[in-house]
Amino acid sequence: METVVSGIRSTGNLHLGNYFGALRNFIKMQEENKCFFFIADYHSLTTHPDPKILHGNVKNVLTEYLAAGIDPDISTIYVQSDVPEVCELYLLLNMHAYMGELAKTVSFKEKARKQPENVNAGLLTYPTLMAADILMHNANKVPVGKDQEQHLEMTRKFARRFNNFYNVEYFKEPVAYNFGGELIKIPGLDGSGKMGKSEGNCIYLAEDAKSIEKKVKRALTDEGPKEPNSVKPECIENLFTILKVVSTDEVVKHFDEKWNTCEIRYGDLKKQLAEDIIAVTSPIRERILEIQNDDAYLHKVVTEGTARARESASKTLKEVREIMGFKNF
Ligand code: TRP
Repeated sequence: METVVSGIRSTGNLHLGNYFGALRNFIKMQEENKCFFFIADYHSLTTHPDPKILHGNVKNVLTEYLAAGIDPDISTIYVQSDVPEVCELYLLLNMHAYMGELAKTVSFKEKARKQPENVNAGLLTYPTLMAADILMHNANKVPVGKDQEQHLEMTRKFARRFNNFYNVEYFKEPVAYNFGGELIKIPGLDGSGKMGKSEGNCIYLAEDAKSIEKKVKRALTDEGPKEPNSVKPECIENLFTILKVVSTDEVVKHFDEKWNTCEIRYGDLKKQLAEDIIAVTSPIRERILEIQNDDAYLHKVVTEGTARARESASKTLKEVREIMGFKNF
C-alpha cells in the first residue's frame, strides 16, 4: 500500500471541473492507498487573508470534500495548522533550502509579480512548507496538477539532499499519483477551454438546481450546423464534453445524431445537460447542507484526523531530529 498526501487549497468552492478533474478519482484512490488529505491553511497565509474569513474558508473546503466522498473512516483528514509538527519540519528543511532555487520557482515569480507589495518570506519558502507536508508522512505519491509539478520536483530534491547530506536513506522521493489517463478536463460554459474559478465560468457542487439551469441556458452556442456531419465548433464541443461525463451513452448518441443530421435544438440539449448535471451535484449539495450544520460531526472528523496525522508526523520528526544530531539531556 502506498502513502498518498494531498493538500487542498483553502480558498474557493468546488466546481464541476474540480470534481471530474480530480476529486472523483480521490474516492477510488483512498480505497487503494493510505491517504492523508489536509487543508493547507498555512499556505493560504501568504496572501494575508482576512481573519474573519479564514475559518469559514477552511470549513467550506472541509464540508465540500466530505460531501463529495472523502471518507474519514478510511482516510486521514486534517487541517494543516492543527499539526504543529509541520512547522518544525519546515524549519529544519529550510536550513537545506537555498535562496537561489526558491527565488527561481515559477510560482514564486508569478506571485511576486502579482503582489509586489507583499513578497514575504512565506511566499519564498512555500515549496519548503509543501515539502514538509509531504515528507512528514514519508509519502511516495502526491496527486498534483500541472501547476504543482515543480513543487513536487523540489520536494524530491529536498528529500534527496537530506538523505545525501546525512548519509541516510530516510525520505522517499515522492512522485505524482497517476490516475491512468482518467482525468477529464471540464471546459467552461463560455466556450473557453477550462472551467475555473478565476475564469468565472463555473458550476459549483453546492449550487441549487435553478441556478444551474440558468447557467446552462446561458451557455454560449452558435447558430447551428449548416451541413450534415460537420465538425463541432469549440463552444458546442464543450457542451458535449460535459454531457459525456454526466449523461448516459444513449443520450450522447442521440444528440450526436441530431447534430449530424442538422436537427439539433440547443434548447433540448441544454435542458438535458442541466438535468444530468443536477443529478450528479444534487446529492453532494444535500450532503453539504447537512454537514455544514453538524458541528459535532465536523469536530469529530477533525479531532480524529488530527490525532492520526500527528501520530504519523511526530514519528517522522523524532527520527529526523535523531538523524540531525539532536539529543535529549
Ligand atoms: N500547493 C498546493 C496547491 O496550491 C497545495 C498543497 C500544499 C499541497 N501542500 C501540499 C498539495 C502537499 C499536495 C501536497 O494546490
